[in-house]
Amino acid sequence: MGSSFWMVFAGLCVLHMFTEGTEKVCLGTDKQLTSIGDPNHHYNLLKNLYTNCTYVDGNLELVAIEGTGRDLSFVKDIREVTGYVLIALSDISYIPLKNLRIIRGKNLYHGSALSVKFNYNKNIPTLGLRELRFNSLTEILKGNVTFFNNPQLCYENTIDWKGDILANGYYVISDTKDKARICEPCPASCNGNCWGSREEDCQSFTRRRGLGPGYCSEQCDYRCKGPNPQDCCHKQCAVGCIGPLATDCLACLHYNNSGKCEEHCPPPFFYDTDLFQTVTNPDAKYTYGSLCVDECPSHLLQEEENCVKTCRKGNTDNGQRVCEKCVGACPKKCTGFQKYQFAGYMTINEAILRNFTNCTIIEGSLVITKQAFEGDLWAGFGPMSPSELSVFSTVEEITGYLQIEGQHEDFTDLSMFRNLKIIQGRELYNQYSLVIYQTSLESLGLTSLQQVNNGKVNIQKNRDLCYNVEDVVWNRILKNPAEQERQINRNKKKTKCVVEGRTCSDQCNSDGCWGFEASQCIKCANCEATTHYSDNRNTDNSQQVSEKCVGACPKKCAGFQKNQFAGYMTINEAILRNFTNCTIIEGSLVITKQAFEGDLWAGFGPMSPSELSVFSTVEEITGYLQIEGQHKDFTDLSMFRNLKIIQGRELYNQYSLVIYQTSLESLGLTSLQQVNNGKVNIRKNRDLCYNVDDAVWNRILKNPAEQERQINRNKKKTKCVAEGRTCSDQCDSDGCWGFEASQCIKCANFELDGTCVESCEATTHYSDNKQCRPCDPQCDGMCNGPGSDNCTRCLNVKDGPFCKERCPPMKYPDRNNQCQLCHESCVAPDSR
Ligand SMILES: *[C@@H]1O[C@H](CO)[C@@H](O)[C@H](O)[C@H]1NC(C)=O
Ligand SMILES: *[C@@H]1O[C@H](CO)[C@@H](O)[C@H](O)[C@H]1NC(C)=O
Ligand SMILES: *[C@@H]1O[C@H](CO)[C@@H](O)[C@H](O)[C@H]1NC(C)=O
Ligand SMILES: *[C@@H]1O[C@H](CO)[C@@H](O)[C@H](O)[C@H]1NC(C)=O
Ligand SMILES: *[C@@H]1O[C@H](CO)[C@@H](O)[C@H](O)[C@H]1NC(C)=O
Ligand SMILES: *[C@@H]1O[C@H](CO)[C@@H](O)[C@H](O)[C@H]1NC(C)=O
Ligand SMILES: *[C@@H]1O[C@H](CO)[C@@H](O)[C@H](O)[C@H]1NC(C)=O
Ligand SMILES: *[C@@H]1O[C@H](CO)[C@@H](O)[C@H](O)[C@H]1NC(C)=O
Repeated sequence: MGSSFWMVFAGLCVLHMFTEGTEKVCLGTDKQLTSIGDPNHHYNLLKNLYTNCTYVDGNLELVAIEGTGRDLSFVKDIREVTGYVLIALSDISYIPLKNLRIIRGKNLYHGSALSVKFNYNKNIPTLGLRELRFNSLTEILKGNVTFFNNPQLCYENTIDWKGDILANGYYVISDTKDKARICEPCPASCNGNCWGSREEDCQSFTRRRGLGPGYCSEQCDYRCKGPNPQDCCHKQCAVGCIGPLATDCLACLHYNNSGKCEEHCPPPFFYDTDLFQTVTNPDAKYTYGSLCVDECPSHLLQEEENCVKTCRKGNTDNGQRVCEKCVGACPKKCTGFQKYQFAGYMTINEAILRNFTNCTIIEGSLVITKQAFEGDLWAGFGPMSPSELSVFSTVEEITGYLQIEGQHEDFTDLSMFRNLKIIQGRELYNQYSLVIYQTSLESLGLTSLQQVNNGKVNIQKNRDLCYNVEDVVWNRILKNPAEQERQINRNKKKTKCVVEGRTCSDQCNSDGCWGFEASQCIKCANCEATTHYSDNRNTDNSQQVSEKCVGACPKKCAGFQKNQFAGYMTINEAILRNFTNCTIIEGSLVITKQAFEGDLWAGFGPMSPSELSVFSTVEEITGYLQIEGQHKDFTDLSMFRNLKIIQGRELYNQYSLVIYQTSLESLGLTSLQQVNNGKVNIRKNRDLCYNVDDAVWNRILKNPAEQERQINRNKKKTKCVAEGRTCSDQCDSDGCWGFEASQCIKCANFELDGTCVESCEATTHYSDNKQCRPCDPQCDGMCNGPGSDNCTRCLNVKDGPFCKERCPPMKYPDRNNQCQLCHESCVAPDSR
């Protein structure tokens, strides 16, 4: 017996029934012939499911009900089944489905809407299903009827299935096995068609055409309640009726709108013939099975005017149980570590990494231990580089826990989890939902983390970890700060971090930061803008404004968009000043050759490319950036050197970045980090060299697979090389935005203040993990570490190994400026 069966089944018990008008709707099952386990338990589950139920949404499966004296009267109220009815492996004599009128057959069981099989007792041959007694059943809208191996069953072959019950094109499939008992004829009053042996068990007819009792008038649309033309049912009736109206049906052929059978549920919009326009319909309803409902039941989602189990492709649950078109890629759920999954592995590793491609929600947990980086040949996986963990950059939610251990020289931050917003903590590791333990991390980089909803937090023994967010921030992130204990200690000493300059940007306020960049502040120091503000108790979902901490507050300016700058086709000298000090352009920016040539007809004169420097404060463009035009001084886009994000919420012919037929020699977009939507077109720039590598575009583009790149017909690479117009040899293979060593994507050797250098030693810096860091101010020139004891020479005096401004009391500097202890008997001279 599968344990999952009980979980699912038990789950249904909790919310199996709800009311829609006078219908008691309950959810059917989808287990087919799965073995059931303890018969008493099974019986009680079914009883819970179907007591008082009139409308089964799904399949009615009465399987493996054994034992004399089982009372199945709890199915007696069922009138409609939207899926199939399966009666199997049971030995009860009668199943009291006496009110079952219609089986809609939206799901079929091996082609059948009604399947009755193996209903006997192997030990007591006289036990088994004896009569169907489905006296009310008159309609099966789709699907066959199957009987197989029911040795005690009688009368099913007397029913006129084809004539009155089955839909066109469907059949009764009956085995030819001999019955174990002799079937008596139907009661005389039944004219040979009966559901059982009692007088009341005659089959009643509501569809057959002909003359006389038991037949409908030829004039009827579909069903009737008697032989005369006035007995015809409304054409929207299934089953039969008690009168001629659409409100008199026993069941609806299509939809039941509060008791009236209709072809469609009231739509969300209708056409107002007086107003000549489409107006919203205040009486709109959603279709749920054959019911029209005001609201979809809570286990379903609303998609347009329907209630659905899952959104169709391209749509996703917006969080309010409404399917909406996905913005970008649809969320993808992936199974993480949990019982039974990845059971053979103790850590994420190179063998299973690809299973997490494009995942947005991890159902389960994620575990990274040092074995990930070292490999474990015994467990069957090799070592992996931390950079491969970037597969997790799409993850926004983990339903279990996140556990991270392990050291590697390139494992210095968790930027692969930069989009992780929520850790649910529905599964815990030793009570913890977030563990970052004994890693080589220098900063956390969890810039999107907003909620840890359950479980404790453990961030310990990370010897290089600086840049922490403050307690107040954890208090906002944790759902129950009082219960969710934090153990954040034994990381790098704060004083040491300070000495090494590993502190938050001075653009951050006192809440701290996730890393050294100003963009990793929790909140800005100098303005109201927030960067990575989180508050787990904020209910309105309006947080997470992502604005940058620059000196001045961000200034939003309208760019080109509908209704703005409508008279102009390009940025030009007449409107240039409108962009002074802007950090965010709401809309697009367009520069064409008219900008440089002027267009007197449109009312603006020519402008020099240098005037475009007004854009040097721009960090974000919400629409697109389109650049064309040639001018001898227009050789790079350094005016956009601070542009970080192109959102592409508006596109120009599907493009969000167009650089076409310009005189540019290099791009110079050194800050560009994200192009979130739209294609990229960089073509026919005859002088353009210095391009960044494909790998870099793959990082910049949010969905590289969708955001097509057309980067070609620029200056031939061979020509660039011949002319020496290549990236600095201080750049690594990722390429560059221009010829300067400060325009590399990454450094081949060391980085000093944003520029790639051969070595740090020639300067007043020392090297630390490819970064040049400043020597202590007491050093005179070079050093081999951050401390005042790592100087090659002291600026002033040396006290023991430490360079100091002056010798301490009771010491004096000797001829070599080394501090020496004064003789006991002397009063120290005012040292130095
Ligand atoms: C079923 O309906 C009866 C009569 O309305 C009611 O007394 C009983 O509590 C209901 N049982 C369940 C399980 O809803
Ligand atoms: C119904 O039964 C007929 C006859 O056996 C068969 O040809 C047909 O495929 C069945 N229909 C379905 C939906 O399985
Ligand atoms: C339609 O639904 C109502 C409850 O909304 C119910 O009372 C009625 O019996 C249903 N009618 C039919 C024909 O199913
Ligand atoms: C991982 O993906 C491979 C194929 O890509 C699949 O065969 C395997 O079952 C997956 N493993 C798990 C545990 O999902
Ligand atoms: C540009 O700025 C001028 C004043 O500096 C203003 O009058 C004009 O409306 C602005 N144009 C647009 C389109 O914002
Ligand atoms: C632009 O910013 C500078 C420095 O903050 C300020 O002095 C100047 O007045 C601003 N200009 C405009 C037009 O906002
Ligand atoms: C990941 O997403 C991209 C872009 O949507 C798609 O092209 C690619 O096939 C996806 N890969 C996997 C393994 O799902
Ligand atoms: C800095 O100096 C201290 C003490 O002399 C020494 O232990 C440490 O290794 C030095 N650091 C480097 C990077 O050499």
